[in-house]
Amino acid sequence: MPTPEPNPAALDADPSTRNACLAPLAASFDAVRAFIAGALVPEDPALAEVVGHVTAANGKMLRPAMVLLAGQAAGTPSDRHTELAAVVEMIHTASLLHDDVLDRAEQRRGRPTANHLYGNAAAVLLGDFVLSRVFEITVRWSDPEIGCVLGRAAAELCQGELRQNLSRGGEPIDEEAYLGIVRRKTAALFQSAGYLGAYVADGGETVNRALGEYGSCFGMAFQIRDDVLDVVGSEQRAGKTLRTDLAQRKLTLPWIHFLKVSPGTSGRDLFEQARSESDAHGWIDRLRDAGSIDYAWAKARAYVDAAVAALGPVPASPARDRLEDLARSLIGAA
Ligand code: FPP
Ligand code: MG
Repeated sequence: MPTPEPNPAALDADPSTRNACLAPLAASFDAVRAFIAGALVPEDPALAEVVGHVTAANGKMLRPAMVLLAGQAAGTPSDRHTELAAVVEMIHTASLLHDDVLDRAEQRRGRPTANHLYGNAAAVLLGDFVLSRVFEITVRWSDPEIGCVLGRAAAELCQGELRQNLSRGGEPIDEEAYLGIVRRKTAALFQSAGYLGAYVADGGETVNRALGEYGSCFGMAFQIRDDVLDVVGSEQRAGKTLRTDLAQRKLTLPWIHFLKVSPGTSGRDLFEQARSESDAHGWIDRLRDAGSIDYAWAKARAYVDAAVAALGPVPASPARDRLEDLARSLIGAA
C-alpha cells in the first residue's frame, strides 16, 4: 500500500491526540517547571534576567512526559520522577541553547533565542550553567546508574552534533550516517528518559529496557519528523526558525533522498542553489515531486511502529496506552 503523504499544514500543529496524552500530566509539569526554576536561580542576582529567559520559555515537555509516563507504566512514580524529569529537560534546554548558536537561529519556543538577545558567548555560557546545575543535582542523588545514563546521553548528544557539524558542507552523508547522527543527537536523550523513568519506578530490567527502546524509537521518529518540518513547516506554528538545515549546509533525510534520486545534482549544487534561491516553495515542490517528503515521512512512521512494538513487555495500563498514543501522535497528521 502506498504511504499517504503527510499533510504539511497539520504537520507542525500540536495534534489534539498529543494534547490529550499530555493533559493529565499538567500538574506534574507545573511541579517540573517549578523545580527547574528553583534549580536555576543564580548566585549572582545580576544574572537573574538572562537566566530568567531560560525558565520563562515553555517547551513541549516531551522528555519530562516520557520520564513521568514511563514511571507510571513501570511501577509507582515518586518525587524523584519530578526531579528526574526536570533534569532531563534541563539537559535538553542546555543543548538547545548551544544548538541555536550553531544554527544561528533567531526564534525558539515562540520567542527570540538567547543568542539573538544576548549574543553567542552568553548563550553558550548559559547552556553551560544549566548543564552544571544538572551535575550538582544528580550527584546529590547518590545513584551512579542515573548519573552514568544521563552522562552518557549528554555525551551522545555532543557526539551526534559534532559529527553533524563536521559533515556540514562536505561530501554528502548517506542515510546510514544520518540515522547514526539522529540516534545520538536526539534519540539518546529520549532513550535515557524512558529507561530512567522506569528504573526509578523499579520496573525491572526487561521493562526498563523496553521503555528505553520505546524512547529511542520515539526520538528517531521525532527528529525525522522535525527534519521534514524544517522543509515544509510554518515558522509561526512551530514557534522557531525553520529552513535552517540547508542554509547551514546540513543534509537531512529529505535532502539525502533527493540527492539519491537526482543523479545530476550534487550536495554542493544544493547548497549553492539554496543560497541563491530564497523561494522555499520551489524547493518544497521539487522535494515533493521527487518523493523525498513521502520517503522521510514513511521512515518516521516505521520508527513510530517500532516504538509501539517496543512496549510489548510493558504491562497494560493507562500510562502505557498514553505512551502508545503519544508515539502515534507524531505521525497522526498524515
Ligand atoms: C536540535 O536539532 C538539537 C539537538 C537535538 C541536540 C543539540 C546538541 C548539542 C548542540 C550538543 C551540546 C549538548 C549539550 C548537552 C550541552 P535541530 O537543529 O535539528 O532541531 P531544531 O530545529 O529544534 O533546532
Ligand atoms: Mg537547530
